[in-house]
Amino acid sequence: MSAATAMTIPHYLQFKDLDAATYAYLFERAAFIKRKFKAVEKYQPFADPDRTLAMIFEKASTRTRVSFEAGMYQMGGSVVHLTTGDSQLGRAEPIEDSARVISRMVDIVMIRTFEQSKIEAFAAHSRVPVINGLTNEFHPCQILADIFTYLERRGTDPQGKPDMACLQGKVVAWVGDGNNMANTWLQAAELLGFTVHVSTPSGYEVDPVLAGIRNPDCYKVFKDPREACAGAHLVTTDVWTSMGFEAENEVRRAAFKRWCVDEDMMRTAQPDALFMHCLPAHRGEEVSAEVIDGPQSVVWDEAENRMHVQKALMEYLLLGRLG
Ligand code: CP
Ligand code: NVA
Repeated sequence: MSAATAMTIPHYLQFKDLDAATYAYLFERAAFIKRKFKAVEKYQPFADPDRTLAMIFEKASTRTRVSFEAGMYQMGGSVVHLTTGDSQLGRAEPIEDSARVISRMVDIVMIRTFEQSKIEAFAAHSRVPVINGLTNEFHPCQILADIFTYLERRGTDPQGKPDMACLQGKVVAWVGDGNNMANTWLQAAELLGFTVHVSTPSGYEVDPVLAGIRNPDCYKVFKDPREACAGAHLVTTDVWTSMGFEAENEVRRAAFKRWCVDEDMMRTAQPDALFMHCLPAHRGEEVSAEVIDGPQSVVWDEAENRMHVQKALMEYLLLGRLG
Protein backbone atom coordinates (compact mmCIF):
# COMPACT_ATOMS: atom_id res chain seq x y z
CA MET A 1 0.00 0.00 0.00
CA SER A 2 1.25 3.49 -0.75
CA ALA A 3 -0.10 6.64 0.82
CA ALA A 4 1.26 8.62 -2.10
CA THR A 5 -0.65 6.76 -4.83
CA ALA A 6 -3.41 9.08 -5.98
CA MET A 7 -5.71 6.26 -7.11
CA THR A 8 -5.32 4.13 -4.00
CA ILE A 9 -6.84 5.17 -0.73
CA PRO A 10 -4.66 3.93 2.12
CA HIS A 11 -6.63 2.25 4.90
CA TYR A 12 -5.51 0.64 8.17
CA LEU A 13 -7.95 -2.20 8.74
CA GLN A 14 -5.56 -4.94 9.89
CA PHE A 15 -1.98 -4.93 11.19
CA LYS A 16 -0.80 -6.65 8.02
CA ASP A 17 -1.99 -3.71 5.87
CA LEU A 18 1.47 -2.11 6.31
CA ASP A 19 4.91 -3.63 5.76
CA ALA A 20 7.87 -3.79 8.14
CA ALA A 21 9.64 -0.80 6.55
CA THR A 22 6.53 1.35 7.01
CA TYR A 23 6.30 0.28 10.66
CA ALA A 24 9.95 1.29 11.14
CA TYR A 25 9.04 4.72 9.72
CA LEU A 26 5.89 5.01 11.88
CA PHE A 27 7.74 4.15 15.10
CA GLU A 28 10.40 6.75 14.35
CA ARG A 29 7.72 9.30 13.56
CA ALA A 30 5.77 8.44 16.73
CA ALA A 31 8.96 8.98 18.77
CA PHE A 32 9.43 12.40 17.11
CA ILE A 33 5.79 13.37 17.71
CA LYS A 34 5.96 12.17 21.33
CA ARG A 35 9.11 14.24 21.96
CA LYS A 36 7.27 17.35 20.70
CA PHE A 37 4.30 16.59 22.98
CA LYS A 38 6.56 16.13 26.02
CA ALA A 39 8.41 19.37 25.24
CA VAL A 40 5.03 21.16 24.96
CA GLU A 41 5.92 22.21 21.39
CA LYS A 42 3.12 22.71 18.88
CA TYR A 43 3.05 20.24 16.01
CA GLN A 44 0.07 20.97 13.77
CA PRO A 45 0.33 19.41 10.31
CA PHE A 46 -3.49 19.23 10.13
CA ALA A 47 -4.11 22.94 10.82
CA ASP A 48 -3.91 24.47 7.35
CA PRO A 49 -5.90 23.23 5.59
CA ASP A 50 -7.88 21.98 8.55
CA ARG A 51 -8.39 18.17 8.48
CA THR A 52 -11.37 16.49 10.08
CA LEU A 53 -11.53 13.03 11.63
CA ALA A 54 -14.90 11.27 11.99
CA MET A 55 -14.93 8.73 14.83
CA ILE A 56 -17.69 6.11 14.71
CA PHE A 57 -18.24 4.07 17.84
CA GLU A 58 -20.57 1.08 17.86
CA LYS A 59 -18.98 -0.14 21.11
CA ALA A 60 -17.83 1.64 24.28
CA SER A 61 -14.38 3.22 24.59
CA THR A 62 -12.22 5.35 26.84
CA ARG A 63 -8.67 5.13 25.45
CA THR A 64 -9.53 4.96 21.76
CA ARG A 65 -11.83 7.96 21.94
CA VAL A 66 -9.55 10.15 24.04
CA SER A 67 -6.38 9.25 22.13
CA PHE A 68 -7.86 9.91 18.69
CA GLU A 69 -9.80 13.01 19.73
CA ALA A 70 -7.02 14.66 21.74
CA GLY A 71 -4.47 13.60 19.11
CA MET A 72 -6.41 15.15 16.24
CA TYR A 73 -6.95 18.46 18.07
CA GLN A 74 -3.29 18.63 19.10
CA MET A 75 -2.32 18.20 15.44
CA GLY A 76 -4.49 21.18 14.50
CA GLY A 77 -7.46 19.24 13.12
CA SER A 78 -11.08 18.72 14.15
CA VAL A 79 -13.17 15.76 15.22
CA VAL A 80 -16.75 14.55 14.70
CA HIS A 81 -17.95 11.89 17.16
CA LEU A 82 -20.74 9.50 16.13
CA THR A 83 -22.27 6.53 17.91
CA THR A 84 -24.81 3.95 16.82
CA GLY A 85 -27.38 5.45 19.19
CA ASP A 86 -27.14 9.04 18.01
CA SER A 87 -26.77 8.47 14.26
CA GLN A 88 -28.69 6.74 11.49
CA LEU A 89 -26.33 3.77 11.88
CA GLY A 90 -28.61 2.65 14.72
CA ARG A 91 -31.63 2.90 12.44
CA ALA A 92 -30.31 0.49 9.82
CA GLU A 93 -28.89 2.92 7.26
CA PRO A 94 -26.64 0.67 5.16
CA ILE A 95 -22.96 0.91 6.08
CA GLU A 96 -22.11 1.50 2.39
CA ASP A 97 -24.41 4.56 2.27
CA SER A 98 -22.98 5.86 5.54
CA ALA A 99 -19.47 5.53 4.08
CA ARG A 100 -20.40 7.36 0.88
CA VAL A 101 -21.90 10.27 2.84
CA ILE A 102 -19.47 10.63 5.75
CA SER A 103 -16.40 10.35 3.53
CA ARG A 104 -17.57 13.31 1.38
CA MET A 105 -17.36 15.61 4.40
CA VAL A 106 -14.31 14.54 6.40
CA ASP A 107 -10.69 13.67 5.62
CA ILE A 108 -10.24 10.47 7.62
CA VAL A 109 -12.48 8.03 9.53
CA MET A 110 -11.89 5.82 12.56
CA ILE A 111 -14.41 3.04 13.25
CA ARG A 112 -14.95 0.75 16.24
CA THR A 113 -17.52 -1.90 15.37
CA PHE A 114 -18.43 -5.59 15.53
CA GLU A 115 -17.64 -7.70 12.44
CA GLN A 116 -14.49 -6.97 10.42
CA SER A 117 -16.68 -7.32 7.31
CA LYS A 118 -18.49 -4.13 8.37
CA ILE A 119 -15.35 -1.98 8.40
CA GLU A 120 -14.20 -3.61 5.14
CA ALA A 121 -17.55 -2.64 3.56
CA PHE A 122 -17.22 0.92 4.87
CA ALA A 123 -13.67 1.22 3.51
CA ALA A 124 -14.71 -0.14 0.11
CA HIS A 125 -17.17 2.74 -0.24
CA SER A 126 -15.10 5.47 1.41
CA ARG A 127 -13.33 8.31 -0.42
CA VAL A 128 -10.95 8.78 2.51
CA PRO A 129 -8.67 6.59 4.67
CA VAL A 130 -10.36 4.36 7.26
CA ILE A 131 -8.71 3.20 10.50
CA ASN A 132 -9.78 0.16 12.53
CA GLY A 133 -10.37 1.28 16.12
CA LEU A 134 -11.26 -2.33 17.11
CA THR A 135 -13.44 -5.02 15.60
CA ASN A 136 -14.37 -8.47 16.93
CA GLU A 137 -11.45 -9.86 14.93
CA PHE A 138 -8.62 -7.26 15.18
CA HIS A 139 -7.27 -4.28 17.17
CA PRO A 140 -4.29 -3.04 15.11
CA CYS A 141 -3.91 0.42 16.73
CA GLN A 142 -3.42 -1.25 20.11
CA ILE A 143 -0.66 -3.56 18.88
CA LEU A 144 0.96 -0.57 17.17
CA ALA A 145 1.10 1.11 20.59
CA ASP A 146 2.23 -2.07 22.34
CA ILE A 147 5.20 -2.62 20.03
CA PHE A 148 6.17 1.05 20.24
CA THR A 149 6.08 0.72 24.05
CA TYR A 150 8.27 -2.39 23.90
CA LEU A 151 10.77 -0.57 21.66
CA GLU A 152 10.87 2.40 24.04
CA ARG A 153 11.87 0.10 26.90
CA ARG A 154 14.00 -2.50 25.14
CA GLY A 155 14.90 -1.32 21.64
CA THR A 156 16.06 2.28 21.44
CA ASP A 157 19.40 2.99 19.75
CA PRO A 158 21.97 5.45 21.17
CA GLN A 159 20.43 8.25 19.05
CA GLY A 160 17.05 7.66 20.72
CA LYS A 161 15.52 5.99 17.66
CA PRO A 162 13.35 2.87 17.92
CA ASP A 163 15.35 -0.12 16.63
CA MET A 164 13.08 -2.80 15.20
CA ALA A 165 15.98 -5.28 14.91
CA CYS A 166 15.60 -5.89 18.64
CA LEU A 167 12.27 -7.65 17.98
CA GLN A 168 13.93 -10.48 16.06
CA GLY A 169 13.67 -13.76 17.95
CA LYS A 170 11.82 -12.29 20.93
CA VAL A 171 8.97 -14.22 22.60
CA VAL A 172 5.63 -12.63 23.47
CA ALA A 173 3.43 -14.77 25.74
CA TRP A 174 -0.30 -14.38 25.15
CA VAL A 175 -2.35 -15.70 28.09
CA GLY A 176 -6.16 -15.86 27.82
CA ASP A 177 -8.77 -15.41 25.15
CA GLY A 178 -7.89 -16.01 21.48
CA ASN A 179 -9.56 -12.70 20.67
CA ASN A 180 -9.06 -9.57 18.51
CA MET A 181 -5.84 -8.69 20.38
CA ALA A 182 -4.41 -12.21 20.09
CA ASN A 183 -5.15 -12.44 16.34
CA THR A 184 -3.45 -9.09 15.81
CA TRP A 185 -0.37 -10.19 17.78
CA LEU A 186 -0.03 -13.13 15.35
CA GLN A 187 -0.04 -10.77 12.37
CA ALA A 188 2.58 -8.57 14.02
CA ALA A 189 4.81 -11.55 14.85
CA GLU A 190 4.76 -12.81 11.27
CA LEU A 191 5.55 -9.37 9.89
CA LEU A 192 8.17 -8.21 12.40
CA GLY A 193 10.03 -11.45 13.19
CA PHE A 194 9.11 -12.46 16.74
CA THR A 195 7.16 -15.45 18.10
CA VAL A 196 3.92 -15.52 20.09
CA HIS A 197 3.52 -18.27 22.69
CA VAL A 198 -0.24 -18.61 22.96
CA SER A 199 -2.17 -20.27 25.77
CA THR A 200 -5.97 -20.17 25.76
CA PRO A 201 -8.60 -22.42 27.33
CA SER A 202 -9.87 -24.97 24.84
CA GLY A 203 -12.68 -23.59 22.72
CA TYR A 204 -11.14 -20.08 22.80
CA GLU A 205 -8.18 -20.59 20.46
CA VAL A 206 -6.61 -17.97 18.18
CA ASP A 207 -7.61 -18.03 14.53
CA PRO A 208 -4.46 -18.09 12.33
CA VAL A 209 -6.57 -18.65 9.20
CA LEU A 210 -8.67 -15.57 9.88
CA ALA A 211 -5.45 -13.65 10.63
CA GLY A 212 -4.05 -14.84 7.28
CA ILE A 213 -0.93 -16.36 8.86
CA ARG A 214 1.32 -18.11 6.33
CA ASN A 215 4.35 -18.82 8.51
CA PRO A 216 3.34 -21.39 11.15
CA ASP A 217 6.59 -20.70 13.06
CA CYS A 218 5.45 -17.23 14.15
CA TYR A 219 3.33 -18.73 16.93
CA LYS A 220 3.32 -21.77 19.21
CA VAL A 221 0.37 -23.09 21.19
CA PHE A 222 0.62 -24.23 24.85
CA LYS A 223 -2.06 -25.89 26.98
CA ASP A 224 -0.49 -24.58 30.18
CA PRO A 225 -0.24 -20.77 30.46
CA ARG A 226 2.86 -21.14 32.67
CA GLU A 227 4.66 -22.95 29.85
CA ALA A 228 3.67 -20.20 27.41
CA CYS A 229 5.30 -17.64 29.72
CA ALA A 230 8.54 -19.61 30.19
CA GLY A 231 11.42 -17.44 28.95
CA ALA A 232 9.10 -14.80 27.47
CA HIS A 233 10.34 -11.23 26.96
CA LEU A 234 6.83 -9.82 27.18
CA VAL A 235 3.75 -11.28 28.90
CA THR A 236 0.37 -9.93 27.87
CA THR A 237 -3.29 -10.68 28.40
CA ASP A 238 -6.75 -9.18 27.98
CA VAL A 239 -10.25 -9.44 29.45
CA TRP A 240 -11.88 -12.88 29.54
CA THR A 241 -15.01 -11.47 27.89
CA SER A 242 -14.65 -9.00 25.06
CA MET A 243 -17.30 -6.45 24.08
CA GLY A 244 -20.14 -8.12 22.22
CA PHE A 245 -19.69 -11.45 24.04
CA GLU A 246 -21.24 -10.46 27.39
CA ALA A 247 -23.87 -13.24 27.21
CA GLU A 248 -21.01 -15.76 27.62
CA ASN A 249 -19.68 -14.09 30.77
CA GLU A 250 -20.47 -16.83 33.30
CA VAL A 251 -19.30 -19.71 31.09
CA ARG A 252 -16.08 -17.81 30.35
CA ARG A 253 -15.42 -17.07 34.03
CA ALA A 254 -15.36 -20.82 34.71
CA ALA A 255 -13.32 -21.70 31.60
CA PHE A 256 -10.63 -19.01 32.12
CA LYS A 257 -9.92 -19.50 35.87
CA ARG A 258 -6.38 -20.81 35.31
CA TRP A 259 -5.56 -18.03 32.79
CA CYS A 260 -4.74 -15.32 35.32
CA VAL A 261 -1.31 -13.69 34.97
CA ASP A 262 0.03 -13.66 38.53
CA GLU A 263 3.47 -13.25 40.08
CA ASP A 264 4.20 -17.01 39.84
CA MET A 265 3.52 -16.91 36.12
CA MET A 266 5.68 -13.78 35.67
CA ARG A 267 8.55 -15.54 37.49
CA THR A 268 8.73 -18.15 34.71
CA ALA A 269 9.35 -15.36 32.12
CA GLN A 270 12.68 -13.55 31.59
CA PRO A 271 13.71 -11.66 34.74
CA ASP A 272 13.32 -8.36 32.87
CA ALA A 273 10.10 -9.35 31.07
CA LEU A 274 7.52 -6.60 30.62
CA PHE A 275 3.81 -6.97 31.33
CA MET A 276 1.20 -5.37 29.03
CA HIS A 277 -2.60 -5.19 28.99
CA CYS A 278 -4.57 -3.11 26.50
CA LEU A 279 -7.01 -2.11 29.29
CA PRO A 280 -9.63 -1.96 30.68
CA ALA A 281 -8.43 -4.65 33.14
CA HIS A 282 -10.18 -6.76 35.75
CA ARG A 283 -7.82 -7.30 38.68
CA GLY A 284 -8.27 -10.80 40.10
CA GLU A 285 -9.53 -12.18 36.79
CA GLU A 286 -7.09 -12.13 33.85
CA VAL A 287 -4.33 -10.43 35.90
CA SER A 288 -3.50 -10.07 39.59
CA ALA A 289 -3.25 -6.61 41.13
CA GLU A 290 0.38 -7.38 42.08
CA VAL A 291 1.33 -7.85 38.42
CA ILE A 292 -0.61 -5.02 36.77
CA ASP A 293 0.39 -2.57 39.52
CA GLY A 294 3.88 -4.06 39.87
CA PRO A 295 7.32 -3.05 38.58
CA GLN A 296 7.22 -5.06 35.33
CA SER A 297 3.94 -3.52 34.19
CA VAL A 298 4.06 -0.80 31.52
CA VAL A 299 0.30 -0.47 31.03
CA TRP A 300 0.11 3.31 31.59
CA ASP A 301 2.82 4.05 29.00
CA GLU A 302 1.05 1.58 26.72
CA ALA A 303 -2.21 3.52 27.06
CA GLU A 304 -0.56 6.93 26.52
CA ASN A 305 1.33 5.65 23.50
CA ARG A 306 -1.97 4.98 21.74
CA MET A 307 -2.13 8.72 21.11
CA HIS A 308 1.44 9.13 19.86
CA VAL A 309 1.36 6.18 17.44
CA GLN A 310 -2.08 7.10 16.11
CA LYS A 311 -0.91 10.66 15.42
CA ALA A 312 1.92 9.16 13.36
CA LEU A 313 -0.53 6.81 11.64
CA MET A 314 -2.99 9.60 10.74
CA GLU A 315 -0.13 11.78 9.50
CA TYR A 316 1.07 8.93 7.27
CA LEU A 317 -2.38 8.11 5.90
CA LEU A 318 -3.20 11.77 5.17
CA LEU A 319 0.16 13.27 4.20
CA GLY A 320 2.34 10.30 3.26
CA ARG A 321 5.98 10.01 4.33
CA LEU A 322 7.49 13.18 5.76
CA GLY A 323 11.02 14.06 6.74
N1 CP B 1 -7.54 -0.47 24.80
C1 CP B 1 -8.62 0.14 24.31
O1 CP B 1 -8.90 0.09 23.11
O2 CP B 1 -9.35 0.80 25.24
P1 CP B 1 -10.79 1.45 25.05
O3 CP B 1 -11.78 0.32 24.90
O4 CP B 1 -11.03 2.23 26.31
O5 CP B 1 -10.78 2.32 23.83
N1 NVA C 1 -10.66 -7.62 23.60
C1 NVA C 1 -11.25 -6.46 24.19
C2 NVA C 1 -10.37 -5.28 23.98
C3 NVA C 1 -10.89 -4.00 24.58
C4 NVA C 1 -10.01 -2.83 24.30
C5 NVA C 1 -12.62 -6.22 23.57
O1 NVA C 1 -12.75 -6.40 22.35
O2 NVA C 1 -13.55 -5.86 24.29
